[in-house]
Amino acid sequence: MKDLTPNKSDLDLIEIASRDEIQALQLERLKWSLKHAYDNVPMYKKRFDEKGVHPDDLKSLADLARFPFTYKDDLRDNYPFGLFAVPREQIIRIHASSGTTGKATVVGYTKNDIDVFADMVARSLRASGVRPGEMVHNAYGYGLFTGGLGAHYGIERLGATVIPVSGGQTARQVTLINDFKPQAIMVTPSYMLNILEQFHNIGMDPRECSLQVGIFGAEPWTNAMRLEVEKAFDMHAVDIYGLSEIMGPGVANECVETKDGLHIWEDHFYPEIINPETGELVEDGEMGELVFTTLTKEGLPMIRYRTRDLTRLLPGTARSMRRMEKITGRSDDMMILRGVNVFPTQIEEQVLATGGLAPHFQIELYRAGHMDAMRVNVEAMPDAADGLSKTAAARMLSKRIKDNAGVSTEIIVSDPGGVPRSEGKAVRVIDNRPKA
Ligand code: DLL
Repeated sequence: MKDLTPNKSDLDLIEIASRDEIQALQLERLKWSLKHAYDNVPMYKKRFDEKGVHPDDLKSLADLARFPFTYKDDLRDNYPFGLFAVPREQIIRIHASSGTTGKATVVGYTKNDIDVFADMVARSLRASGVRPGEMVHNAYGYGLFTGGLGAHYGIERLGATVIPVSGGQTARQVTLINDFKPQAIMVTPSYMLNILEQFHNIGMDPRECSLQVGIFGAEPWTNAMRLEVEKAFDMHAVDIYGLSEIMGPGVANECVETKDGLHIWEDHFYPEIINPETGELVEDGEMGELVFTTLTKEGLPMIRYRTRDLTRLLPGTARSMRRMEKITGRSDDMMILRGVNVFPTQIEEQVLATGGLAPHFQIELYRAGHMDAMRVNVEAMPDAADGLSKTAAARMLSKRIKDNAGVSTEIIVSDPGGVPRSEGKAVRVIDNRPKA
């Protein structure tokens, strides 16, 4: 793999500023953001008043812990535009979540917000090793989903060439990669596996293609998956994180030279980690739920937004800004089987570690008697699809999951192509348990 480390002189000064400088900027911006929310969004005024706190009470960053949380349901309850802090006419773009788990959540951006968004994605791309003038194949979905357009404007802002492919039509994706020869690709990690499969379908070694780095996010993925994709394509794989409520892609990104977790762009997003049950702050280094406060957002300021994503904060390395460890999963994706907590990422690690299995999988939850049970649907690699190999792989995977995650599972190994593919975020868990 080529060394893609960016030149220090190309970084924003704040990326390598001292912690004191970063914290001073955060405090100043946080004061503005709390006041902006309080003065312009009735929900924040009501919540702060009820809790007996006022923006003027914030004297230090630690004082933020006195302010109330904001939840996804608050966006739903104020659907569609009730949390906007500026007149609707000043919003120049809307995005929305798909709403598969309830009413869609709608977010809006002012011109300045869109500018910051592009800057942060450009910074993320630079951290990933992409340089101005290079070509970026953008296979995140365009439309209301924040991935496609969010990435798009950041690619342009960096001064790179965007190829706005969007998701789907996998054969065409591979044709375009081969014809245009982009240096970088932005796509969900699960869809990258479909692209990989298509390279094999046309009998081409993906290591021969032009890609030097993949910038993967929008869903949890593991270091085991990183190694799998890096090996298959002979390219770097880095993690990009974000969420619509806070901005979109580019809230945090891994640096290609270290790949040791995602640097949070702390000059715009203030992170906290809390115990999800008690809401209490935990120390840096401890696992918990990630909570974000926006520091500069005009259209939709978010104060202590509960992401439900589980991770921990770590000190900066390649940049001064703190890192978050790769996301383990969302608290809503946690499965509890006979008292043991399991995340789909733990299953992913074991599928990838088991010989003869393709990296595609889906988990099915069902009820067996009075107990919840789990079945893992995986598929055999084309050269290991005979009955004996499938039985051996199933046995091995079941043992690995038992040894490493502590739960017993039924494993179904189907023929190649047997696990449903997705075009964006993979659907990892099918819940067939009777509804309470
Ligand atoms: O998925 C934003 C995005 C687009 C990020 C493209 C990266 C690339 P939403 O649709 O609002 O926004 O979903 C946000 O996706 O709370 C996490 O649960 C999950 N997620 C996003 N990035 C990662 C990641 C976009 N790198 C939700 N690792 C978040 C794990 C991620 N989970």
